[in-house]
Amino acid sequence: MSHVAQSGTPMRLAVLISGTGRTLKNFIDLASEGQLPVDIRLVVSSTAKAGGLKFAEQAAIPTRVIHRGGYPDGEAGDNEFGDAVFAACRAAGIDYVAMAGFLKLAPVPDDFADRVINIHPALIPAFCGPGMYGHRVHQAVLDAGVRVTGCTIHFVDNQYDHGPIIWQQPVPVFDDDTADTLAARVFEAEKEAYPHVLRLLAAGRIQLDGRRITIRKGQRGDGSRTGPYPIE
Ligand code: GRF
Repeated sequence: MSHVAQSGTPMRLAVLISGTGRTLKNFIDLASEGQLPVDIRLVVSSTAKAGGLKFAEQAAIPTRVIHRGGYPDGEAGDNEFGDAVFAACRAAGIDYVAMAGFLKLAPVPDDFADRVINIHPALIPAFCGPGMYGHRVHQAVLDAGVRVTGCTIHFVDNQYDHGPIIWQQPVPVFDDDTADTLAARVFEAEKEAYPHVLRLLAAGRIQLDGRRITIRKGQRGDGSRTGPYPIE
């Protein structure tokens, strides 16, 4: 990929949030411990009420609040909103954009194609799409009676939960699960899987061919597994 930071230089990342920001906090903590080669240069929130903004402020990361409601309804407004979000990322010199609990559709402009990723708390293409977020996802998993769920990290295209899949981490569903217990188990998997994908991107190991991803092998001992079980 052409936008990988130079070897040894942390990848310049923007994180898009709408809510509690647990994913952002995980990235900030790992980066500060030297466990994640990212320089979080910008946090964009779709609401001033997002709890995650405080994590950015504590870490002295610049923030922007861009409301979807500031733009017209419908597709034209979606595009204007996306343009505003990505203009902020462009101005900050961002390599990759990670959506982390970002609940708005922000169409990706051409210069950010294949540079925007998202995480969904289920195994796409199941239990995803418009309106499928938060506990609704986990309740739908329980209601369907499936025995395995998980999380999916994927490139973002201009449909909800639809772009090429980079990584899926399976999580078991237990008989006595509630949406809360399942959400907590899936989130533990997310805390490992999403940073793992960022490390792969930073190392230039993700190759995209149509909808299929190939993960190039890395050096021995660098966490070079390319399948979903378990992350080294
Ligand atoms: C996670 O469930 C993730 O899969 C989804 O948003 C949730 C994280 O939001 N995309 P947050 O980091 O707690 O705000």
